[in-house]
Amino acid sequence: MLRRFLVGNWKMNLGLRDSTLLAGEIARGYNSAMNTAVWLAPSALALQAVSAAVKGSGIQIGCQNAHWETSGAFTGEDSPTQIQEAGGSFAIIGHSERRGVFAESEILCARRAIGALAHGLQVIFCIGETLQQRSDNQTAGVLKSQLEPLISNIPSGAFRSLLLAYEPVWAIGTGMAASLEEIRSAHAMVNEYWQSKSGEPCPPILYGGSVSADNFAQIISLPFVRGGLVGGASLEPQKFLEMLRISESLL
Ligand code: PGA
Repeated sequence: MLRRFLVGNWKMNLGLRDSTLLAGEIARGYNSAMNTAVWLAPSALALQAVSAAVKGSGIQIGCQNAHWETSGAFTGEDSPTQIQEAGGSFAIIGHSERRGVFAESEILCARRAIGALAHGLQVIFCIGETLQQRSDNQTAGVLKSQLEPLISNIPSGAFRSLLLAYEPVWAIGTGMAASLEEIRSAHAMVNEYWQSKSGEPCPPILYGGSVSADNFAQIISLPFVRGGLVGGASLEPQKFLEMLRISESLL
């Protein structure tokens, strides 16, 4: 996995028709010879339609969460096999909106990630501190405690299908991305912690939180930043394709 990643997290936005239109527009600006992998995470209800809209383009489609079992009495959940049947190949796990608004614990997020990996999905595992935690100088401790249950329980072969995303909670959807120094130091810390704790190379780390066409070039030029997890700007095809162009021009 040497390529850079540009991932669109559409969150709970867009119905079937608009999801399909947006996916089609992005697919027209992409070709699989590019060195930036483009992944899109629409609503689970639009997975199948979006998957059809990007068919043959090389773009991968995934879900914004995943359960660890393949089926069962888990109301409101989607299983890795259901995601795959709908055309999905990855899941975003532990997004701060899941951890915060839906109270998903560190253990639960690790369990989701390990289950999804075990059933053949690729996983983007999100970590990030709140503004309060940052101002209390707890950033490193928070990121480590979010990673710890994953590192301790993940089977060693599963590392290859894993990406991490550093997303400071206070930078998400606020238009206020973290500073380059904040991103640089968090990514370096995560890289070093992962290696020392697991004895394996750290998976690629994406940055997320108010990524835009205006700051993308600087962010992806930082060490240990392998791409972006993009919310708001991924809903605007021109902006998203501009980030793709920037990424390709900097490889
Ligand atoms: P944002 O969201 O780009 O709108 O800040 C990023 C994310 O939540 O993944």
